[in-house]
Amino acid sequence: MNTPIVIKADGLASGKGVFICNNKNEALQKCKEINQGKFKSSKKFVIEEFLLGQEVSYFILSDGKNYKFFGSAQDHKRIGEGDTGPNTGGMGAYSPSNIITKKVEEKIKQQIIEPTLKGLKKLGCPFVGILYAGLIIKDNQPKLIEYNIRLGDPECQVLMMRLKTDLLKIILACKKKQINKTTVNWSNKKAITIVASSKGYPNKQSKISEIKNTKKILLNNNQYLFHSSTFKKNNKIFSSGGRVLNATALNKNLKSARDTCINMLKKINWKDKYFRKDIGWRAIDS
Ligand code: GLY
Repeated sequence: MNTPIVIKADGLASGKGVFICNNKNEALQKCKEINQGKFKSSKKFVIEEFLLGQEVSYFILSDGKNYKFFGSAQDHKRIGEGDTGPNTGGMGAYSPSNIITKKVEEKIKQQIIEPTLKGLKKLGCPFVGILYAGLIIKDNQPKLIEYNIRLGDPECQVLMMRLKTDLLKIILACKKKQINKTTVNWSNKKAITIVASSKGYPNKQSKISEIKNTKKILLNNNQYLFHSSTFKKNNKIFSSGGRVLNATALNKNLKSARDTCINMLKKINWKDKYFRKDIGWRAIDS
């Protein structure tokens, strides 16, 4: 294989076990680190082709018999603006993805989703639940990077802002194998979420620190401040580090939604706050 080349820890690593290596020495070094136990979940590694293109998260809901599209999103895995620096669990996302045309979607279904569901059925374990295809799309051709069986973080936040049908109703229909009889409605508006992490993430272990002013953020139906790594003590909110808050907004266009999120996060008084201001740049700024 040529470089760049991708080395992955073959186990759970909170999204931090993927390394894009620009030369052979770098790749060998990463293999060694994994093999020496850098990740508790596995000492094995996977070597993969480096695919250049846009990352898209494509979701479907399957009841074991039929399946239904359940939204698309694009997240930003790198810590730095311009998609630079180390990988994280995700620093922000937007929905829907603007690069899934009808043609690309047909390919995703025919070449990736349907053969997978068919294969699982054939193996005697028809899939029931959320299937999240992590794709790379280049020149209108989707390639599968990974599957997850969850809604993704921070993709879930933007999907939930756009979902208009009661989620419980959808889940129950899935359980009763009636997904084909259920209509799932989505808002035509765009949603964006920006993650506020503690400074130093993902490299440095962060300390507990107080987050002030969250009550000063006045939210309407199109805005939401999701808490992730926070806790409450003596009526005060504290960060316990990592990815901590998600400012999320729905608007007729992504730029306005992003401005709303940035304003929400600016109001928060927290000394360890770090967030990217360029989430959605491919769709908004290019
Ligand atoms: N944001 C990527 C994931 O949840 O896997």
